[in-house]
Amino acid sequence: MNMPALIETARALVADDKGILAMDESTPTCNKRFAKLGIPQAEEARRCYRQLLLTAPGLGESISGAILCDETIRQRTDEGTPFVTALDDAGIIPGIKVDAGAKDMAAHPGEKIAEGLDGLRDRLAAYVPLGARFAKWRAVIAVGAEIPSRGCVEANALTLARYAALCQEAGLVPIVEPEVLMEGAHTLERCREVTEHVLRTVFSQLYTQRVKLEGMLLKCNMVLPGLTCPTQEPAEEVADATVKCLLRTVPAAVPGITFLSGGQSAELASARLNAMNVRFKSRVPWALAFSFARAIQQPALEIWRGDASKVVAAQQALVHRARCNRAARRGEYTASMEGG
Ligand code: 13P
Repeated sequence: MNMPALIETARALVADDKGILAMDESTPTCNKRFAKLGIPQAEEARRCYRQLLLTAPGLGESISGAILCDETIRQRTDEGTPFVTALDDAGIIPGIKVDAGAKDMAAHPGEKIAEGLDGLRDRLAAYVPLGARFAKWRAVIAVGAEIPSRGCVEANALTLARYAALCQEAGLVPIVEPEVLMEGAHTLERCREVTEHVLRTVFSQLYTQRVKLEGMLLKCNMVLPGLTCPTQEPAEEVADATVKCLLRTVPAAVPGITFLSGGQSAELASARLNAMNVRFKSRVPWALAFSFARAIQQPALEIWRGDASKVVAAQQALVHRARCNRAARRGEYTASMEGG
């Protein structure tokens, strides 16, 4: 294991107030988003869309890394340039999603376990020559009256830790992503309690599995009220609850926390990240960064809708969101940045 190289990549992914563009939707998820907007659910449409994203002029000013999926990492631009080379040329570090999706967990109704450990060592070894320098694995934790269960949290934490150890062995920086879902009517306090328990369990397993914290990143949810909870706290309260939870659970050796957006609107995700950095940036040991998919891509996707004449406008919307989130890392995002 080349620890200095892992540490350098992990730090580079959160340097200069930049963040990560998650564009690693699996084919079924990407197709679902395309179907809602009447875009053909075909490999060529997915290639055109991903090309639009990763060739957006100026993207590298705000984006440090991009997470691809197995289909995308093998694709090329119209000119025949591998996507990975196009990213490298833009100063963006290519990464790869390696979990095989969250599947129903046996004996745990309503809960999921992320699969994909079988054969992972060989798959990781194959992604390195394709140009990947970091990886991502997402575990989802649902919140309900009786869940999450101990079995679900412990199994996902162990799986994340085994994935992370294999990544570091292969020379890839693992992004460890335990996502406590927003779906439900639970309160912000309940989300904080569940997130705290999940992160404690994950870091305990990372320690047991000998994962080097300096050479990984944590990708977690913000602490938020459930989507249908009647009380929706302002950004400052979300920021306070999130950072309090992270200070209790995330060791200082971890270089950065790259939040997922989880279904928040693009503007709310930026405002909440901004509030965290305004209030805590100078006082926390890790970078408070972003690795959004929907909160960066959705406006661009809605403009594009599969129409080649809308590529430039969609790219501008994408780069705008990336800039808003870089501003949020600096605590300089304001509502006046929107609607221009
Ligand atoms: P969202 O920002 O849309 O939640 O996606 C982030 C991600 O990578 C999910 O795994």
